[in-house]
Amino acid sequence: MADQAEQLRIEVNTKKPEGESRGRSSAAGKCRVIAVSSGKGGVGKTSLVLNLGLALIKLGHRVVVIDADLGLANIDVMLNSIPRFNLADVLNGTKGIRDIIMHGPMDIKVVPGGSGLYDLANLDRVKRQVLIEQLKDLEDEGDYIIIDTAAGISRNVISFIGAADDFILVTTPEPTALTDAYGMLKVLSEQNLKKFCHVIVNSTRNLQQGYKTYSGLNRVVQSYLPSMELNYLGEVRYDLAVSSAVHSFSPFVIGKPRSAASAAVNRIAWRLTSNGRQEKPGLTGIAGFIRRLKELALVDPEEGKL
Ligand SMILES: Nc1ncnc2c1ncn2[C@@H]1O[C@H](COP(=O)(O)OP(=O)(O)O)[C@@H](O)[C@H]1O
Ligand SMILES: [Mg+2]
Repeated sequence: MADQAEQLRIEVNTKKPEGESRGRSSAAGKCRVIAVSSGKGGVGKTSLVLNLGLALIKLGHRVVVIDADLGLANIDVMLNSIPRFNLADVLNGTKGIRDIIMHGPMDIKVVPGGSGLYDLANLDRVKRQVLIEQLKDLEDEGDYIIIDTAAGISRNVISFIGAADDFILVTTPEPTALTDAYGMLKVLSEQNLKKFCHVIVNSTRNLQQGYKTYSGLNRVVQSYLPSMELNYLGEVRYDLAVSSAVHSFSPFVIGKPRSAASAAVNRIAWRLTSNGRQEKPGLTGIAGFIRRLKELALVDPEEGKL
């Protein structure tokens, strides 16, 4: 088994990305893979992923979002579109990953994950290779690939986070969300999957509540998880523009560009791009993501990893 895994690693490392001449980010390592997650559900991850993606597009970048959360308010719901296909169709070999991309406003690209991602940890070797080959094609599609993961510390979520170049942890100031956020950081730290993590505090109710919340979390992390470093990306105030945007199927950075939430998300996008700090010194972009994903999740169950 170890030999097989090693073999796959070599294949991914040495194989040229398909269609290398197609796009401007076609060379491996040009795009940045960002996983967005939270300990607790319902903290605003999906709203942030979508609007952060759009804010990055406004800054001149191309963005692909992978909708890997099987929760209720998925990105396609927020955009009022029903995906005809998802990654399960890619794994079945009936569709290529480019065929299932949905194009949203400002040409944000959305890959509907569906059950294809749910079963990620249980893929057989053939499907695993199919997924790896297909994911490589995303390298040409975006400068940023943002993964909206489910909340919590399931194996799939942890694998996505561990494999990504960057991890953004979303929390609200509520003690329950913070406790779960800490729980997630603990798992990532104990399993040596992440040493650096961006934090966004969402739905704050008064000035500086975001920074105070972050500082409290950071104090605990410094005391109990000394190998984990946090970076504060900013806060998004509780803003009715966010929920009304969900109701009107119009992302707030487009529909309510002057809202407090839009200003906050634009600032966060700017910080994320200007503070280029990435944890992994090695292979970045989709190639690095795939390699780490294979090591973390896409192993045969009998190999007993994770
Ligand atoms: N900053 C905010 N202000 C007001 N409402 C918010 C804010 N962030 C999120 N919400 C609302 O909270 C709900 C859950 O958001 P969602 O993005 O679906 O969370 P998650 O993806 O973490 O489950 C949505 O109805 C959304 O409109
Ligand atoms: Mg969600």
